[in-house]
Amino acid sequence: MLDLLQYQDLETLVAAHVQCEACRLRQQCKQVVIHRGNPQGRLMLVGEGPGAQEDEQGKPFVGAAGQLLDKILDAAQLPLEEVYITNVVKCRPPSNRLPKPDEIRTCLPWLQRQIELIEPRMLICLGSVAARTLIDPDIRITRERGKWLRYGEIDIIATFHPAALLRDPAKKRPVWEDFKAIRDRYLQW
Ligand code: URA
Repeated sequence: MLDLLQYQDLETLVAAHVQCEACRLRQQCKQVVIHRGNPQGRLMLVGEGPGAQEDEQGKPFVGAAGQLLDKILDAAQLPLEEVYITNVVKCRPPSNRLPKPDEIRTCLPWLQRQIELIEPRMLICLGSVAARTLIDPDIRITRERGKWLRYGEIDIIATFHPAALLRDPAKKRPVWEDFKAIRDRYLQW
C-alpha cells in the first residue's frame, strides 16, 4: 500500500510521483507530466491525461486544447496566478486513448494527495473522466455540467473538456456559461 501521507509538501510528492511505474502507461510515455500553474492558486483545474505535446514538454494542457483553455481563462478574466492545472492520470495513454479504470485507480491516490496539499478553493473538472473520478462515477456531463457540488469542503464543478469544444463548437456556449459562473463565484471571495 502506498503511503502518500508521508509526502508533506508538493515538492516531495512530485519528486516521488515522477518515479512512479505502477501502471502500464509509464512504459509507453516519455515522461510523467504533473502540473503547471501556481500551486498557491485557488482554482484547481483537472483534465484527463497528457497528450502528445504534453508528453513532449512535460506540462499539462500545452497543446491545442491547452491553448483554448488559456483563452477561456483569459476571456473569463481569471488571473493565471490563481490557476493550478493537472490531470487525472499523469502519463500519456498511447494514441490518446481514454485512461482505463485500473490506470485511473492507480493514479488517484496521487491526485487526492495533490488536492490535499494544494488546498484549492475550487475544483474544475474538465471533461467526463475528471468528473467521473472526482464527483460521481455515473455522472453524465451533458446533464450535470455547470452545477456546483462539493468535494469534501471544496466547491467542485464540471464542464466540457476543451478538446470537446474543438470538435463540437456547439459546446462553446455552455462552457462559457460555466466559466462565467466560476468567475462570479471567484469574484465573491
Ligand atoms: N487533455 C488533457 O486532458 N490534458 C492535457 O494535459 C492535455 C490535453
